[in-house]
Amino acid sequence: MAKKTINDFRQMVEKGEKIVYLTAYDYLTAKMQEKAGVDMILVGDSLGMVSLGYDTTFPVTMDDMVRHCQAVRRGAPNTFIVGDMPYLSYQTSNEQAIANAGRMVKEAGVDCIKLEGGGPMIAERITAIQQSGILVMGHIGLTPQFMGQIGGYRAQGRSANAAMKLVREAKAVEAAGAFSILVEGVPAAVGKAITERAGIPILGIGAGSYTHGQLLIYADMVGMYDNFTPKFVKKYANVGEVLTNAFKEYTEEVRKGQFPNDDEHTYKMSEAEVKEFLAELDR
Ligand code: KIV
Repeated sequence: MAKKTINDFRQMVEKGEKIVYLTAYDYLTAKMQEKAGVDMILVGDSLGMVSLGYDTTFPVTMDDMVRHCQAVRRGAPNTFIVGDMPYLSYQTSNEQAIANAGRMVKEAGVDCIKLEGGGPMIAERITAIQQSGILVMGHIGLTPQFMGQIGGYRAQGRSANAAMKLVREAKAVEAAGAFSILVEGVPAAVGKAITERAGIPILGIGAGSYTHGQLLIYADMVGMYDNFTPKFVKKYANVGEVLTNAFKEYTEEVRKGQFPNDDEHTYKMSEAEVKEFLAELDR
């Protein structure tokens, strides 16, 4: 399958076809997702929690993101990849935002970058990055890099005023030049209102069923990340349990001397060579 482009996503929206979007942070997962036929992969800064064991996304660096985007690109060479801009990689100036977005493209080969927020400063960054030739996906609603200001990891846009603010932010992000917007953690009515008013693809994570596409964090939907599971996640598998059981079985077998079985799990040597080898040892 050829890698999808901005034109394919626009056509999918026109035809009413849903865009399938998942996060990945490593080569093997990306390889499986490409095989499964997902349309888009996000190397999210959720990397911080899912792969690096931090409590938040704040400590994630540009070097972390570039390294993991490279691995995902190697695993999914024919899938549209979005690289997430980590905290303070774009907030301080347009120049810094362009330079860091450029690293994602030049060093990791991503197709698009994503950044959080819907205020005037973020709109300015989106314009600057997209004018340098890089596709930008906006991200509004529950934006973890604004955790302190939005009062923690909680749904957004639940009052009429807050919902109107999000609709206005979506319009501002679109006007700034984003090619698409990810809307996170809002009631379905808000996801629907934003989608119906948008001229660009709207992806949702925990934003109801009306958005043009759906994103989930892969480690949530396969049951690997169990520190916290948001309400909007559906678990399609329990890989965490499968892996833990496999690790337990291996632990027991090694301790009991049941693994390895030398008839099955070791390299063969002819009897003549073994005989000669033993004779040499005794000499
Ligand atoms: O970092 C990430 O994976 C994200 C999603 C939570 C939307 O930005």
